[in-house]
Amino acid sequence: MADPTNDPEISFTQIDVDVDIQEILLAASQHDIPTLRRLVRTQSALPNAANVKDPETGYSPLHSAIAACEPEEVEEQANGVNGAHEDEHAKLLKSGVETVKFLLQEGAIWNDLDNNDETPGCIARRIKAPELYELVVDAGVRAEMLLSRLEGYEELSDGDDEDEEEDAENVQAEVEDEAAPELVDASEANVAEITSTGERTGLANPEVSNPGYLNSSLNITNERILDADQNGVMMSWESSIMKNSAQKLLPRPGMKVLNVGHGMGIVDGFFQEQSPASHHIIEAHPDVVAEMKRRGWDSKPGVVIHEGRWQDIMPGLVGAGETFDAIYYDTFAESYNDFREFFSEQVIGLLEQEGKWGFFNGMGADRQISYDVYQKVAEMDLFEAGFDIDWEDIPVPKLGGEWEGVRRAYWVVDNYRLPLCRFMD
Ligand SMILES: C[S@@+](CC[C@H](N)C(=O)[O-])C[C@H]1O[C@@H](n2cnc3c(N)ncnc32)[C@H](O)[C@@H]1O
Repeated sequence: MADPTNDPEISFTQIDVDVDIQEILLAASQHDIPTLRRLVRTQSALPNAANVKDPETGYSPLHSAIAACEPEEVEEQANGVNGAHEDEHAKLLKSGVETVKFLLQEGAIWNDLDNNDETPGCIARRIKAPELYELVVDAGVRAEMLLSRLEGYEELSDGDDEDEEEDAENVQAEVEDEAAPELVDASEANVAEITSTGERTGLANPEVSNPGYLNSSLNITNERILDADQNGVMMSWESSIMKNSAQKLLPRPGMKVLNVGHGMGIVDGFFQEQSPASHHIIEAHPDVVAEMKRRGWDSKPGVVIHEGRWQDIMPGLVGAGETFDAIYYDTFAESYNDFREFFSEQVIGLLEQEGKWGFFNGMGADRQISYDVYQKVAEMDLFEAGFDIDWEDIPVPKLGGEWEGVRRAYWVVDNYRLPLCRFMD
């Protein structure tokens, strides 16, 4: 086969493409929308021009447009000079906002990574540009909502029904129009990273599936539970989160609680401290069930253990007329759509009218922008399902050595946002 680098035609084409890429990135960094429009809409050589990448920095046009808004270091100066500098910066931010909006409309990927492992939103946050950050968060919310709907269609469709196929095609078209070409290939890591419940799930590691996990054997110690691939299932540093959640959900003795996912039994221990009248626990992994029995959970006051997946157990509880004052959800390797199904189809049938429910909020917790996007996505879906939600920030202890021997750190953000949900008035 001929060496393409010796082929003058191919080399010239490559040079043209490189020049085009640099021209687009330059126009983005100069917030030059007319030039960008011309380059993005007319470059036949670059079909995905809004998402070209600088080979050295990994910057996309969105990275470039945002990075160009970084304020220059100014030394203490006379007021007048500082004022002029601020005006200039405000102008720069304004043109930055317009450019970011334009690029997102043209299909720029909101969560593409540069060579520094930063998304455009990470840069906006680092340079303290909230107006740019919020634009990227909103783009992320739109993209993720569409993606989760599209996945829902794929799951529902058996491929025989023409209407279903047509609906799915319409959603797909909507997705492609909605400035999110990354959604078309959801298998790409930077998109898959945020399509699951984030924490101890198959986010950056999509091969971790719930059925696969349930069939694997676990390593259970007093400090943590790891699955067979060293993924962290549960870790003791989460105790303060569990304590807060349990106390908010069960503020007084004598209440009825349902916990989904026993893990290390941390949250269940705090529920027990609140002396519940009844305390149901659903747990699907046989190793965890064996361990909880070894530790005597089956004879604790009010405790009823349901062995199996919540998907199989909860409909039976609804059928038996059980209701609860509090429900807590914290599973492992389930997708965002599983979670959505949990609250929109199961919680509704089991929660007392005045009851409260919560969940381990680890969605996207390996990156602040993902965490913020998923908070909004969840909020919108919860609202649609008829729930109000209150959030409370609680600081997370500084983590370091905890991750030794764990495949990946599933928690990076500084604060845990504790959710407390109830039926809308
Ligand atoms: C993160 S741990 C729960 C930790 C717990 N909150 C604690 O305080 O220790 C997740 C638990 O959910 C269980 N699980 C995973 N998928 C499940 C499912 N579909 N139904 C019920 N339990 C599930 C896992 O086996 C695991 O024990």
